Amino acid sequence: MARKRIVAGNWKMNMTIEEGRNWLRSFSRHHDLAQLVEEVIIFPPFTALAALANDEQGNLLQWGGQNLHEAGAGAYTGEISGPMIRDCHAGWVLVGHSERRTLFQEQDDLISRKMRRAIDSDLQPILCVGETLEERESGQFMEVVARQVVRGLADFPQHALDRLVIAYEPVWAIGTGKTASPQDAQDMHQHIRETLSRLYTQAVASSIRILYGGSVKPENAASLFACPDIDGGLVGGASLDPDQFAALLGIR
Ligand code: PGA
Repeated sequence: MARKRIVAGNWKMNMTIEEGRNWLRSFSRHHDLAQLVEEVIIFPPFTALAALANDEQGNLLQWGGQNLHEAGAGAYTGEISGPMIRDCHAGWVLVGHSERRTLFQEQDDLISRKMRRAIDSDLQPILCVGETLEERESGQFMEVVARQVVRGLADFPQHALDRLVIAYEPVWAIGTGKTASPQDAQDMHQHIRETLSRLYTQAVASSIRILYGGSVKPENAASLFACPDIDGGLVGGASLDPDQFAALLGIR
C-alpha cells in the first residue's frame, strides 16, 4: 500500500495563541482543510496547542507536542506528559529532536523510554534521528543514524509499528539553509528502511513513513519529495510562514 505523505510543521519556541490563529487563517486561504491529500501535522508550543487543536479550522488539521516526559504523571515540575498532550486533542509527538539531543542532553535510552510512553499515551511518535556535521565528516554517519534508530526503538512495542514515523534530520542542515542533496537524503532514507527491515520485516519496513527535515522549503521540496524513500517533510523555519508552508502541499 502506498505510504501517505506527511507534511509536518515544527514551530519550536515560536507563536503565541493569537499568532497561531492568524497563521491558521492565512493557511486556510490556500487549501480546503477538509480535502487535504497529505497528512498535515503542526507541532506548536504547548501553550498554544489546546487552543489551536480545538479551533474550528485547526480541528481539520492534526496536532502534536514537540516533546513529552518519559513518565505518565508525577512530581516533575515544568514537564508535560503524554496524557496531557492527548488531553489537548493532539494525536502526535516529536521524540528525540536534535535540539533535545544536543541542547537538553537527551540520550538514546531516554528517547527509547519516551517512544514507549508516547504509545502508552495513545500518541503517534515521530522519532527524530540525524548525524552532526562532525559525524558526517568522519564518514561514520550511516552507522550513527542506524544506531539512533535501533536504540530509539529498543522498547517499542511490535503491535504499534503502524503508528511509527521516523524523521531523518541531518543536524548540519537544521536552520542553516543547507539541505542534504536529494541523493544523499535518499541514500540515508533507504539505509534507515533497511535497518527497519532487519529489526522487523521487509513488509513492516516498507510501510513505515520516513520524513526528511533540515531547511525544507518550497524551492527544494519537490526534488526531495520525489525520492522513493522520502515520505514527506518535517519543516521548521518555513512552517512559520503560512504561505510557504502551504506551498509545500500538493507538490507532485
Ligand atoms: P528547519 O528545521 O526546517 O528550520 O531546518 C527543521 C527541524 O528542526 O525540524
